[in-house]
Amino acid sequence: MTFGTEKPRVLDGIAIAAEIKAEVAQQVTEALAQGYTPGLAVILVGEVPASQIYVRSKVKTCGELGIYSEMLTPVAESTTEELLALVDSLNKRDDIDGILIQLPLPAHVDTNKLLDAVLPEKDVDGFHPINAGRLLSGASPDEVLAPCTPAGIIEVLKRSKIAIAGQNAVVIGRSNIVGKPVASMLINESATVTICHSKTKDLPAVTREADILIAAIGRPGFVTADMVKPGATIIDVGINRLDKAEDVERFFPGNEKRREGFEKRGSSIVGDVDPAAFAVSSAFTPVPGGVGALTIAMLMSNTVKAAKLRRKS
Ligand code: GUN
Repeated sequence: MTFGTEKPRVLDGIAIAAEIKAEVAQQVTEALAQGYTPGLAVILVGEVPASQIYVRSKVKTCGELGIYSEMLTPVAESTTEELLALVDSLNKRDDIDGILIQLPLPAHVDTNKLLDAVLPEKDVDGFHPINAGRLLSGASPDEVLAPCTPAGIIEVLKRSKIAIAGQNAVVIGRSNIVGKPVASMLINESATVTICHSKTKDLPAVTREADILIAAIGRPGFVTADMVKPGATIIDVGINRLDKAEDVERFFPGNEKRREGFEKRGSSIVGDVDPAAFAVSSAFTPVPGGVGALTIAMLMSNTVKAAKLRRKS
C-alpha cells in the first residue's frame, strides 16, 4: 500500500546531524573567543563492546567539533561508592561542563543513585530528575538539558518542516531514555500524545490514529504496515541486530545489498518498524541513517549548551 502516488520522504538523519554539528562547531568557536573550551567527561564502566563503540564515537565527535573530552574507564568491579566519588570529582571541575555515564552499568551498581549524583547543570544526558522535571514542567528547549535521542527526534521533525502542534503523536515504548521524555517534548510542542507499551489494549487501533508514530521498543520490525495510518510520519528509534539470514530475507525480501552486507559482516540492522510499513507513510527515518545519527549531535549540542548556561554566556 502507498499513500497517494507520492513516494514517502526519507528523513536523512545523517544530513540533519551534520547541520547540527556545524552549528555546534560555530558555537565552540564563539566559546573559545570568550576564553573557555566546552568540556565533556564520559564514564564507561567495564568493557561492554557496544558501549565502547558508542563512547569512542562520542569522544571522536568532540574532537571534530573542538570540544575538550575525557574518557574515564573504571573497571567493571567498581563499587557504587567509588563511582560516586568519581562523579563528585567531575562535578567539582570547572573545565568539565558535561558528564555522561554510559548505560547500561554493571548490575551491582546503583544506576539511579549515580545518575542523581551528576550536577543537574552538567547532566548532558538529561537523565537527572531535576532535568526530567523541568522538561515535564514545560521549560523552554533553550534552557533545559533534554535527553539526546528525544531532542534529536524533535530536531528531525522541526528541520523537516513536519507539523507537530495539533497532531496526534503516538509513542510506542515508555522508557526513561526515549519514550517518556519524547512524550513530554511533544506535549510541549502542542501535540496530542499517547504513550503505548506492552499492556496497551488493541495497539494497532491506537497506532493507526497517529499522524506522528514513534517506535522505541527495541523489537525488530515490530510495527507492521497495518499499524500505520496512511500518510503518517514514522520515527524509528530501534537499532536491532539481525544475525539470521532468514530474518534479513524476511524484512528485506530480494534486497541484494542487504544480503551482501549480511554475508560480509554476519549481521544486519533493522529498526522497530518493518521496512514494508514505511511505504504507508509520507515520511520516515531509515535505520541506519535516521535518529541514531542525531543522538551524538544532540550530545554535542547539550555540552555546548551546558557550558553556556553554567557561564551564563
Ligand atoms: N546507552 C544507550 N543510550 C544511551 C544514552 O543516550 N546515554 C547514555 N548515557 N547511555 C546510553
